Parts: sequence; C-alpha cells; structure tokens
Amino acid sequence: MPGGLGASCTGIDLSQKIAARDRVALLDAFRTHHVLVIRDQHLDKARLADFAGIFGEVEGNIFRKTDGSLLEAVHEITNFGADGRPSADPYLKSNFNWHTDKAYQAVPSLLTMLLALELPPSGGDTQFADMTAAYDALSEATKAEIAGLKVVHSFEHMRVSTGDRPLTAAEREATPPVTHPLVRTHPDTGRKCLYIGMYCSHIEGMDATASRAMLDRLLAHATEPRFIYTHQWRPNDLVLWDNRCLVHRAVANYELERHRRVLMRVVVKGTVPV
Ligand SMILES: [Fe+2]
Repeated sequence: MPGGLGASCTGIDLSQKIAARDRVALLDAFRTHHVLVIRDQHLDKARLADFAGIFGEVEGNIFRKTDGSLLEAVHEITNFGADGRPSADPYLKSNFNWHTDKAYQAVPSLLTMLLALELPPSGGDTQFADMTAAYDALSEATKAEIAGLKVVHSFEHMRVSTGDRPLTAAEREATPPVTHPLVRTHPDTGRKCLYIGMYCSHIEGMDATASRAMLDRLLAHATEPRFIYTHQWRPNDLVLWDNRCLVHRAVANYELERHRRVLMRVVVKGTVPV
C-alpha cells in the first residue's frame, strides 16, 4: 500500500461462509501487514461480528449514545451532532487525534474494523502510523532512554485534553487510569513498538513537564509521513487494523456539516501489553 503499511485483500466475499483456507490467509495477512483493506463488502451487523470473531473475542462497550442507550458491540460511528445531523462539531471529536483504541483499559483492543456505509464525496480519510517502524527508527540513545518506562493512560485525560464532552459519572467510574509499557512487544511478531497516543496522561515517576515533552516528541516522530498510510474510503470498504502496533486518526478533510460519514465499527479484545 502507499506508505508501505498494510495490504489489500481481493477475491473474497465475507458475506459468505469463509473457507478454512481463506481464514488462514486472512489471519496470516493481518499478522504480517497489520492493516487490511477489503473492498466491496456487504455485511450486516451480525455478519460483521461473525467475521471479527475469527480474530478473537468481540468486545462490548460501556459508553452511551446521545439518546442515553448503551453502545452496541457492533455500532455506527458518524460525524453527527447530538441532533443526529452532520455537524462541524460532532458528538465525538477526539477521533481526530492520534490514538490506539481502548488503550485506557487494562486489557486494550487487538484490532478494530470499520465498514464504510456512507461517505462524503471526497475526504473523510483515516490515517494509520506504524509504531514498529517508528520504534526501529529511534536513535539508540532514545531507545535506551525510554526502555522500561511506563505510561499512565486515562480516558478522562483524553476527554479533557482534546476538548471532547466531559465524562459522565458512570463513565468515570468505569475508566480508572491504567498503566502500560511505553514500548510494548507485539505478541505475534515479537517486535518492539511504541504504545502511545491521546490517552497518554504521563510517564510514571517523571516530572509532568518532562513527561509531556517526551510523549509529544515521540508522537511527533512516530507520525511523520514516512510511517503513515492514509486510507481514502470507498463505499463498502472494510478496513481492519492492529491496535497493538499502530496509532490511527480520522481526518476532517471534508465539509463535516454538509456530508454524512457513517461507518460500522467493531472491536476485538486483545491482551495485557508487555
Ligand atoms: Fe479509534
């Protein structure tokens, strides 16, 4: 793929039962490329959850929608405001910041899938940055400096620092800060990768200013263009990515208040980062 990250899978229809051979090929491609793009897929929620299930346990949600109902495991993400219409100030704006999904949990996610249902005429991209390549490109001095450091990830920190809506009491209770290694080892590849993004509050045991400076410096390095793949969506694109070794963000490169952007999302649970 442009940017060197990810792979496109062709000749597969995920609305049908997946042959054992295709299943092995998909798992293998995911372990190797970390972003898979599968075009022209027509799946309902149940079928998307079935497909996600070949990678692991589909994860539920603790968060509520604008109407107060609980977000389903397979749910839609949109650019809508609280009134359910496209908005320049959508309900969740934090997705425009680099992050890895559910890093604020003790057991974060393995992968996320998005299926494009409705898109703006152009733009509305999603970008992915390769945290393994970014780690490898650090100087030996920096690798030594960050070895063994632990980072506190906080959902509340994210909401405050990104200016997104404040937490409800239930959300705060459900998301106490957690600690993960700054450099984690990918359980499949055995390679080291940076585990950073918008949920990072501070580095444990480090002065707040120095901690913020280091996190910002590492994220700026890790999201240089050389580490990025930008996905330009087409309707019915299914994209899945490895949250263990990538950060991603939505790009607001379209008229948010004018066009609908609706994608179906499902997350697969991972393991404790080490
Ligand atoms: Fe995300």
